[in-house]
Amino acid sequence: MEWSPKYLTGNALVDSEHEQIFAMVTDVIGQKFKERGEKIETVINFFVSYTLQHFSHELKLMEDSGYPEIQEHKRQHAEYMEKVNALKAKIETDPNRDISVEVGDVIADWLENHVLCSDKKMALHYRDWMKEVGNEDGFGATILMGL
Ligand SMILES: [Fe+2]
Ligand SMILES: [Fe+2]
Repeated sequence: MEWSPKYLTGNALVDSEHEQIFAMVTDVIGQKFKERGEKIETVINFFVSYTLQHFSHELKLMEDSGYPEIQEHKRQHAEYMEKVNALKAKIETDPNRDISVEVGDVIADWLENHVLCSDKKMALHYRDWMKEVGNEDGFGATILMGL
C-alpha cells in the first residue's frame, strides 16, 4: 500500500490530514511503533482521536459550504469509525494480536471508496463555494484560522 498523488483532493487541510492518517497506518502495519517503545493501544487511541478530529474538520467544510450530500458523507464516516472501533476493541482484548492485515484492509477501503470519491467531491464543492463567495485561495482556511 502506497501513498499516491491520486488521493489528493485539492484541499490543503484535508490532504495533509489524509497523509497523516496514512502515515499512522503505515506505522501500525510496519510495527514501527515498537521501535519507538510505544504500545499498540497508545497508537490506536491517537489514531482514533486524530481521525475523529479530521472528520469534524470535514463536517465544518460541508456545513460552511452547504454541501447537499452531507448526510451520506456523515454516514460513511460513521461506518468507517465503526470498523476502526472494532479493531480497537480487538486490541484491547488481546494487545499481542497482529491486526496489520485488518488495518490494511480498512484503510485501503477508506482510500479507494471514500477519499477517492466522497472526499474529492466534497473538496470540489467547497472550492466552488469559496469561489462563489469570493475567496479563491481559502482552501480550508476557515478551519485553519479557527483552530
Ligand atoms: Fe470524508
Ligand atoms: Fe477525509
